[in-house]
Formats: sequence, C-alpha cells, structure tokens
Amino acid sequence: MTNKVVVNADIEKGIINKNIYGHFSEHLGRCIYEGFWVGEDSPIPNTNGIRNDVVAALKNIDIPVLRWPGGCFADEYHWKDGIGPRESRKRMVNTHWGGVVENNHFGTHEFMMLCDMLETEPYICGNVGSGTVQEMSEWVEYMTFDGESPMANWRQENGREKPWDLKYFGVGNENWGCGGNMRPEYYADLYRQYQTYVRNYGENKIYKIAGGANIDDYRWTEVLMREAHWLMDGLSLHYYTIPGDFWKGKGAALDPSEKEWFITMKRALHIDELITKHSTIMDKYDPEKRIGMIVDEWGTWFDVEPGTNPGFLYQQNTIRDALVAGVHFHIFHDHSDRVQMANIAQTVNVLQAMILTEGEKMILTPTYHVFEMFKVHQDATKLDIDVKSNTYELDGEELPSVSASASRDKAGKVNISLCNLNHKEETEVKIQLRGLQDRIEKISGRLLTASETNAHNTFDQPENVKPEALESFTVEGDELTVTLPAMAVAVVTIG
Ligand code: AHR
Repeated sequence: MTNKVVVNADIEKGIINKNIYGHFSEHLGRCIYEGFWVGEDSPIPNTNGIRNDVVAALKNIDIPVLRWPGGCFADEYHWKDGIGPRESRKRMVNTHWGGVVENNHFGTHEFMMLCDMLETEPYICGNVGSGTVQEMSEWVEYMTFDGESPMANWRQENGREKPWDLKYFGVGNENWGCGGNMRPEYYADLYRQYQTYVRNYGENKIYKIAGGANIDDYRWTEVLMREAHWLMDGLSLHYYTIPGDFWKGKGAALDPSEKEWFITMKRALHIDELITKHSTIMDKYDPEKRIGMIVDEWGTWFDVEPGTNPGFLYQQNTIRDALVAGVHFHIFHDHSDRVQMANIAQTVNVLQAMILTEGEKMILTPTYHVFEMFKVHQDATKLDIDVKSNTYELDGEELPSVSASASRDKAGKVNISLCNLNHKEETEVKIQLRGLQDRIEKISGRLLTASETNAHNTFDQPENVKPEALESFTVEGDELTVTLPAMAVAVVTIG
C-alpha cells in the first residue's frame, strides 16, 4: 500500500525554532578533551587549543546553541577551578565519569571561545547539587557584568575585557538524580532561591531554565510548574532512546537484531507521548505557552563499545541512529509551539555523537548527516502536513513506517523531510503538494540510506554512510511520488 501525504503550503504552523537543532557537550570521556580541546601545543592542528577539523565540521551543520559543562558533571563543577593560568588550575577527579583526572584546562574562557568559533549561543548549566547560591551568582556576574565589580575585574585580569553575551542558563541538572537526589518540592524551593541571584546585568537578559523531569515523571513537572512557573523561561526534559534496559543491558550499538531495530524505533517515537503529556501539565499553569520545553538531553544510549572505559559512554553510530534523529526532529517540529530547544547528547565521542575521533583522525557519523540535511528546517515556517502511513509490523506489533515534516525557508523553498523506519522494505510515498503548483518543476532531493542495519562509518571507511542524490521520485500534476528505500532519511526541496 502507498503512503499518502498532503502538504498544505498555504497553511502555516509557526516557526521551527532553530534551537531544537542544539547540542550538548559534557566533561565526559573524550567529548571535551580530545573531542574539542587538544591544547595549544598539540600536533593536532588547532586554534588556541581547540581542534580545527572538529570546528570546521560542526560549522557546516550550523549549531545554534551548545549546552555545557554537563550533565551530571555540572553539579560537581566549580567554575573558579577553570579560570586563570592553565598550569595552576586545580587538578580534580571527575568522580562521575570514569574517575579520571580533570585538569580544568577547558573552562569558561575556553568554552566561550569555542562558542565564538562555532558561532553558537552558549547555554551554561550551573551547579545546584554541590554548589552555593553565591558561586552561581558570581559565575553570572563574572561572565556578564560590564563595569567595576569583583568578578568583572577578575575576568579582566584573566584577559577578557568585555563581558560575554549569555542568554541560556540552567539552574542545575537532573536534580532528581545525580544532581542531588532531590524531591521535586525541595528542588522547586532551591530553584526559586538560586534563580533569584541569576541576575540580568545591563542589556544581558537571561533565559532561565529549571531542571525538569526524567522521562515520564509527570509529578516532577506538576510540582515545578505549580511552585515556580512564573520564575522560569524554560523547563527541561530528558529522554534517551534505549532499546534494552538501562541497568541490565542497553543493547549494542552495532549489529541490532530485527527486534532491537524495531524497539529502537518504537522508543524513539515515544518522545511524542512524553512531550504531549508534560506539555499538557505545563498548559495548566502556562496556557499561553510562554515557557519553553527544553529537551536538553536526548538521543540513543547503547552499551559502550567493547574494550572502552565504561565511564566514557563511547558508542558507534549507525543508520539506526540516523533514523532516531530524523524521527525526533519531526516530533519536535510537531510540538514547535512548546519545544523551544533540544540538545542532542553529545556532540563528539559520547553517546549519539556527530563526530568520532581517534587521535588526529576524525569521522562524521550518520547522525551528523541528518543534522546537515535537516538544517534547512532551522527557523523555517512549519507547513501543515497530513501523513497517512503504512504500518511497519514485527511480531504482531505495529508502528507507522513513514514519518514526515515540511517547512518553508526564508528564500521561499519548501523542504519535506521523510523517514522510512522499516528495516527491510522500501516504501512508496505519494505527496500531494497543495499550493505549490507553480514550483513543481524545480524538485531535487537528498537521501541517506544503507543496505545493512549495521551500516556505519569507520576510520578506515569514513564514507560508508553519507548522503547521495535522491533519484527515485516522479512528478505528475501536483503529486510527487517518492520511493524510499528501507532505513532511509530523505529531504526533498521544491523551488
Ligand atoms: O549524557 C550523559 C548523562 O546522562 C548526563 O550527564 C546526565 O545528565 C544524564 O543522566
């Protein structure tokens, strides 16, 4: 049976916030150290200690916002350890992630420099779990105060005359778990207290993000909204796609069985229900949808690659990850009235990474290619779309095989992204293009697919999985017919 899609180019559904294509990078494994920071004396080509190849690759996907320094690391991080001359910075133990030495060579100045290089907005996550109100307040003063003050003077002594622009600030991370094992009532009170001293200095206006729920902890959202909604701009949500069990075995990143592939797709699609239900609770206190849902950790989480440090969360990345990314973006688009930001975990060498490195070598993952293909949706106008999909069945369970989204960019081009979740059958999609009759001759497309569920890039074969031209489409009248291979992500551009 053919899948039927209708795109109504005359019906606009708001703007797709570019920040849903955001990233998260933590002091975890080889994300910051080696992934970004190699130091000025490294033989790996770098600019002021930050590797050039990674920055160049990331600039090509237009990262709008970057969250740092954690994650669980954030609630153990004391920012004052990471400023001043590098040789004299405190060497500490990264207790949460692998027990390795953290030499603090990558701190506030280095992070802000990285954001400048990437032309991305910084999103800093402060320490509630083991930090003080004063510490958090002084960090904001250090970064954003323009004038004479103890922290601004100190910043200047450390070589930065002008304050940085800092928009996004998170008040703690996973405070129901690694961020302090708190009850929502307790965290809500702490949020109220800590955020009071996160000041707006001069023109710098901070968008304050409260630490939100894990997966389906709806009580957390209810309590936070009830007790503090008027004091927050955003509320976070964390959800990882794990085909197995978090504690007993998450499943391998490579060689998924048919069942594991199917479950991965099912669990990726589950984010739709989570956003809908958390959002419904938020609606109760914020019917105008002023407060953004900030999905600041999402992505696949598999067992670590055999032979690697279990605390480093290093995993390979396949065509399965590409599908997970595509499906998430479509769901974020569908909720663009509430989801104002999302940050994939994590940019380099950790979990669902865009980039993997091995010393001076670097490869781009299938997930990277989805970010690159989908960047046309950033800040574009979402168009009305109706998707009637075939079912994708395994062992008596059903999922839709096709997921799709459409938007119009600032130049007037319409981009339709499509995913075929089915791991073994191609599928035909008939797309009725309403309101686009005058542009129908100018159609082109790109396709990311593979012939095996395991397909991935390696340091020996870095281009196994990469986008190619989409050839398998025809046009008749206002109907576009696309044949999507199994396991495919495609973007069709009209105009
Ligand atoms: O992204 C890895 C970890 O997952 C983060 O540090 C934490 O916030 C979450 O549990």
